[in-house]
Amino acid sequence: MGHSTSPLAGRGVVVTAGGTREPIDPVRFLGNRSSGRMGNAIAVAAADRGATVTLVTTVAAPADPRITVVDVDTADEMHAAVRSALAGAAVLVMAAAVADYRVAEVAPRKLKKRDALTLELVPTVDILRALATDPVRDGVLVVGFAAETDDLEANAARKLLEKRLDLIVLNDVARPGIGMGTEDNAVTVLDAAGIVAEIDRRPKAEVAGSLLDIIERRLAH
Ligand code: CTP
Repeated sequence: MGHSTSPLAGRGVVVTAGGTREPIDPVRFLGNRSSGRMGNAIAVAAADRGATVTLVTTVAAPADPRITVVDVDTADEMHAAVRSALAGAAVLVMAAAVADYRVAEVAPRKLKKRDALTLELVPTVDILRALATDPVRDGVLVVGFAAETDDLEANAARKLLEKRLDLIVLNDVARPGIGMGTEDNAVTVLDAAGIVAEIDRRPKAEVAGSLLDIIERRLAH
């Protein structure tokens, strides 16, 4: 589909990518295995369809002059950046792996080695859950991801409802070779009515294209 015919042409698309990094002290952080490849692929695919893309990311973004990149580290920073980017946008795709915990008190100086160290962790902001009741998301098609190892579809369906998502992209992160930190992905896409599509294992760029086909169809009606 060319630019002129895509319902994404000229529309704002906000994509998040990578894993958030929650600081422990000036040199250490809590992180995860997300490479940012899935989010980067979605950003490029959306730009290919003529969308105005903002990529909010913790990792290196594609060198693509069509994409506006906002670099962040923490869940709090990602939340703020997504809120500003959403003004006037049509679509949000939350491909980032947001850390679920942060250290209660970040040490101002590098922690010294000792026999044992106990860190007190507190929950980070759940960005999608916060957006569910935030007026900035009104009129935005919101797509979440679900990284699961057990009860895949039931958990994804619950997240879709709790986070008020239009679509959720389910990743089986227990399957080797797909999902987080890998080149390929295989996903199941669900909406409130059930399974929308099953996308078999293929490079993330192709998975991104299939996801945008689904998003385009939703925007068209
Ligand atoms: N997400 C978010 N803010 C968080 C955690 C997750 O916005 N603090 C988003 C992710 O970007 C993803 C979706 O919520 O689009 C689901 O993330 P996932 O890690 O699968 O789910 P959690 O809500 O963290 O639930 P759990 O850890 O219990 O599986």
